[in-house]
Parts: sequence; C-alpha cells; structure tokens
Amino acid sequence: MKHQIDFDRIDLKREAPVEEPARQYYFIAKAREYVHKVSKELARPLTAAVITFGCQMNARDSEKLIGILEQAGYQMTETEQADLVIYNTCTVRDNANQKVYGRLGALNSLKKQNPHMKICLCGCMMQEESALDKIRKSYRFVDLIFGTHNIFKFAELLCTMAESDRMVIDIWKEAEGIVEDLPVERKYAFKSGINIMFGCNNFCSYCIVPYVRGKERSRNPRDIIREIEALVADGVVEVMLLGQNVNSYGKNLEEQISFADLLREVEKVEGLERIRFMTSHPKDLSEEMIQVMKESKKICRHLHLPLQSGSNRILEAMNRCYTKEQYLALVERIRQEIPDMAITTDIIVGFPGETLEDVEETIDVVKRVKYDNAFTFIYSKRTGTPAAAMENQVASEVVKEGFDKLLKVVQDTARERAALLQGQVQTALAEEMNEQDSTLVTGRLSNNTIVHFPGTPDQIGKIVSVRLKECRGFYYIGEQITESG
Ligand code: 5AD
Ligand code: SF4
Repeated sequence: MKHQIDFDRIDLKREAPVEEPARQYYFIAKAREYVHKVSKELARPLTAAVITFGCQMNARDSEKLIGILEQAGYQMTETEQADLVIYNTCTVRDNANQKVYGRLGALNSLKKQNPHMKICLCGCMMQEESALDKIRKSYRFVDLIFGTHNIFKFAELLCTMAESDRMVIDIWKEAEGIVEDLPVERKYAFKSGINIMFGCNNFCSYCIVPYVRGKERSRNPRDIIREIEALVADGVVEVMLLGQNVNSYGKNLEEQISFADLLREVEKVEGLERIRFMTSHPKDLSEEMIQVMKESKKICRHLHLPLQSGSNRILEAMNRCYTKEQYLALVERIRQEIPDMAITTDIIVGFPGETLEDVEETIDVVKRVKYDNAFTFIYSKRTGTPAAAMENQVASEVVKEGFDKLLKVVQDTARERAALLQGQVQTALAEEMNEQDSTLVTGRLSNNTIVHFPGTPDQIGKIVSVRLKECRGFYYIGEQITESG
C-alpha cells in the first residue's frame, strides 16, 4: 500500500515530535536522509532483508518492518548478502532459537566482507532474558536489538543505530499502547493479515507466548475496519484476522464488542470476498460464533481449533480449561451446523507426565474429529513457564514413540478428509504460479486446501471456479471452469 505521508517534506531541523505516529514519521524521514547519504557515497542503493521465523503474527510484523525500510529508501532483497539484515525471531519452541543462533554465525562472516552491514534482531526471542544475555555476550557483532512491544519505534531505532558504534538494545517489559497508521508493505497484493489483538492472557502452562507478547490488548474496532477498507480499496480480497486467541477479542475494550460482532462488521466491508481468522481457543468459541460463521457469505470454511491433548489429565495440567468431552461436543456442534467446515489443530506430544495411554486419548480425538490437518509438536521446555518446573519430564524415546504413532493417524485421517472433495467444483483464490511447473496456478479453496490448475499469471489475485479432478494426498490437481463451460 502506498503511504500517504510525503516524508521528504518533514522538517528535520526541528525537534522530533513527542506524539505518535508523527514521531516515527519524523524518524523515517531522518533514516531516509541517512540512507540517501550512504548510498550516494557508495554509488549504489542500500539493500535490506527481513528474515521471518515463526507464526503469522511475525509475518505481519515483518511486513511492518519492510514498510518502514522501503520508506526509508532501502531496496528489499531476499538474500542475507544485504546492507541491513533483520531476523524477526520466534521462541515458542527451542529449535526456533537454535536456528537463529546457527544463522547468526554465518551472518558474522558476511559482515566481515561488507563493512557497511548492519545486523538487527527483534521478535519474541528478544523478550526472553536468557536469549538476550547470550546474544549480548557471545554475538557482539549484532548492531540493534528490540522486542515485540516497541516494534512501532523501528524507524527511531534505525536512526539511533546509525549514530552509534555500539550494540543498541531497547526491550520493553510491557506494551504502552497501540500505535496506528505506520507504513506497511504487504507480501501479497490480494490478501493480508490484520492484527485485531496482541498478547495472550491464557497462560497455558507450557507456553512462553504470554511472557514475550504480554497481556491481551484488542485494537479498536473502527481502526480495524478502517484498515480493512483501505486494504480492499488497494486490491485486497481476503483478510486473515490475527490474534493469539481471537475468540476473546474485545474483552479489554471499554465498549461492549465480541469477536462475533467484529466479524459481522468485517462482513459488511464491500468488495471484501473472504475472511479468515487465527487462532480460536476452544474454551471461548461461543454458540453465537458458530451462528455467525454459518450465516456468513465471506467467512472461509476453515477453523483452526488447537486441541493440544486429548487426555483430561494432561489438559488440566496444561491449563487449557476444557475437557476431551467438551472439545468433542464443540466439534460436533460445528459439524452439525456447518458440515463443510474444515477443522485443523495443534497437538503437543511429550508434555510432562504424559504417558502412552494419554497419547492414545489424543489419537482417539484425532480419529473421531478426522482433522483436515494437524500440526504436531514435540513438547519443548520453555524457561519460566510452569511446565518447565514440573519434575516428571518425559524421556525422549517415549515421546518419539507416541509422536510417530500420532503422526501416522493424523496423516491417514487428513488424507481421508482431502479425498472427500474429489470431483467437486469450488472457488479458489489464485495465489501464485506454481514453482515447479510454470503452466500451473496455485490456488486455495475456502477450506484452505491447495489446488493446482492450468492458468496464467493474470489470474493471480482472482477468485475462480475449479473442478477438483485428482487428489494427490493432501492437495488437488484441478481445472478451471469457464463461464460458458
Ligand atoms: N512446546 C511445544 N509446542 C508448543 N506450542 C506452544 N508452546 C509449545 C511448547 N512449549 C505449540 C502449541 C501452539 C502452537 C502455536 O505451538 O501447539 O498451539
Ligand atoms: Fe500460548 Fe495458550 Fe496463549 Fe495459545 S492460548 S498463545 S498456547 S498461552
């Protein structure tokens, strides 16, 4: 989206404004002056790369970082051989952290070849004290570190970094407020994520998110609708409403508004064709929500409903606030009302104290629900969470045995569900040309299934009708149905 502000007209001789977002506009202009100057000296453009780890929230944050970098005059590239590299990190499981440490080592060699190179780190991992300490001590070549709560200050931090020859660190323990109207550059022209809330108040006992993303805060509904209207005017046909627990949207706002109310408002935006959202906590999915989904013409037939475990004992220790029976009853209600709703889930294996009998309970839920897809994770111990202090951590061989068994059932049921669409005609949003075969367009059905069909680049961003001809495991080969045929 083109940003309306003319940054070249901002007077840099004045003091920086105190109010946001005016203050950040000022620093974008200042960063722009710096980039222009260095680029002139080097007689080449300055390049920047944003590398994203983790979830959709991080992907959206990266679009905000790119929006600011582009306005500052950087040329974006995909490779890490750039003048500025940002890692937007994740810390939900330890392997995400390990990846960052590994890649940082390689970045250091690149930096030795390019004296102008700046390395920045941000995201969830930076909110974790032990990770921050390690980087501060062992990765001295990093230039800038900031966290999840002050990402809106990125332009200002870029300027501080440019003026400093030491590592700049700015991490906030809590968020102060939500700053609206900063530049953002979408990855796709035709679809976009929208943050509707930040943080999480659930404190599932294994999860680090509430500690690194802070307390739950909802955005004002009018700001959300205004953003969606602007996106639609700019060519967006599909939005994904993002929050750690979207079903509790509105709880901290003064005005009375629920997620179901918000969905009704989003539905009214003219020109918007598809609505998705992520993630729904089963404990907060109301009957009203089921009715809104059922009646909607725009809400996609896909619900991500994390189960985590099918064992009541483990669910309780996880602090998930529902039982296996309640979860199954909820799924039954959804399927009764909306039979074509695809349901996907997240499952953790190896939570402290989990036995193979507990895993059998989880497998039982998978068999009954028949998920369209399930993300299965091996439990990762996160320092500071209640589960990390539990004594009965599970031996890795036991975890592996349960995990493999579960994975097989997950794959079998997902295949079974995918095959049910054989021969149907459905609408797909054409998203990109197929990487392996450039005669094929890759599209996404309302229920999130991928379909590849013969087509051309001009179809990207359009919603087309396709016949699902051949199921290949989890995806389809299809053909477009033309208006006349
Ligand atoms: N270990 C393994 N998986 C985890 N998740 C969250 N925390 C952990 C952890 N400590 C998984 C949950 C969540 C998904 C985003 O990540 O399944 O739904
Ligand atoms: Fe983590 Fe639970 Fe919040 Fe999801 S709902 S982010 S699993 S604490």
